[in-house]
Amino acid sequence: MKTEGGSETAKRNAGERAAEEVTDGSVVGLGTGSTAAYAIEAIGQAVHDGLDVQGIPTSFQSRQLALEVGIPLTSLDAVDGVDLAIDGADQVRDDPSPNADADSNATTDADANATADTASALIKGGGGAHAREKLVAAAADRFVVVADPSKLVPELDRSVPVEILPAAHTTVAERVRELGGEPTLRDAEHKDGPVVTDNGNLILDVAFGPIDSPAELAPTLAAIPGVVEHGLFIGLADATYVGTADGVEKRTY
Ligand code: A5P
Repeated sequence: MKTEGGSETAKRNAGERAAEEVTDGSVVGLGTGSTAAYAIEAIGQAVHDGLDVQGIPTSFQSRQLALEVGIPLTSLDAVDGVDLAIDGADQVRDDPSPNADADSNATTDADANATADTASALIKGGGGAHAREKLVAAAADRFVVVADPSKLVPELDRSVPVEILPAAHTTVAERVRELGGEPTLRDAEHKDGPVVTDNGNLILDVAFGPIDSPAELAPTLAAIPGVVEHGLFIGLADATYVGTADGVEKRTY
C-alpha cells in the first residue's frame, strides 16, 4: 500500500522547505517515507553546517537515514518535549470551505487558511509506521505535513491502515466489517506471510470508500480492543507544505 505518484522535485521542495523551520537547539520528530526523507537529508546538511538539533525517529527507516546523515538522536522519554515534527502523508483532505480566503489554493509559500473551521485530516501508515508517527506528531508543539500535490483530495478515500495486536486480527476484522469496512491483512513483499511492524504487530488495511466523517470514525476505530493505532490523523497537523515543480504551497489549519 505504498503511495504512488508525485514527482521527486515536488517532494524535495516540500521536505526542504519544512526543514528550514527547524531551529537551533530544538527537538524534531523525523517522519517516515520518501517525502519526509528529503526533510531528514536537509536537516542532516544543516547539522553538518552547525545546527544544534536532536531528532526523534518514527521508524527503523527514518532512524537509519538520520544516522546516515549525522542527526543526533534522542527519544520521547529523554526529552521535555518535541518542538516540531515533520512527516509525510498518504492523503491530505483539502476541501477549502466556501468562505475560505481566495488565496486558499495559495501561491508559493503564501499562508492559506483554507480550513479555518475544519480540523486537518490525514491518512497515514502506507509504510506501516503510523503508530510511532502519531505518537511523535501528537507530542510535538507543531506538526508540519510534507506532501506532493497527488496527496491532496477533497475527501479521504484510501484504505485506513490499522495496526493490530497479532492475536486480534480476526476479531478486529470482524468489528471493522460491522462498521462498513473491508479489511485486508497487509502481506509482506519479500517474506511469506504478513507485514510485521516495527512494533511487532500486524496491519489491516481497511477500505471504507469515501470517509464522510473521519473525525467520527477515528475514535470508533481506536476503541476496538486489539487496535494499537490507526492511520487517521485528525486535528494533529498545523500545516501542510505542498511541494510543486517550482516551490511550495502552504496550508495552515
Ligand atoms: C508511513 O507509514 C507513512 O505514514 C508515510 O508517512 C506516508 O506513507 C507518506 O510516504 P511518502 O512520502 O513516501 O508518500
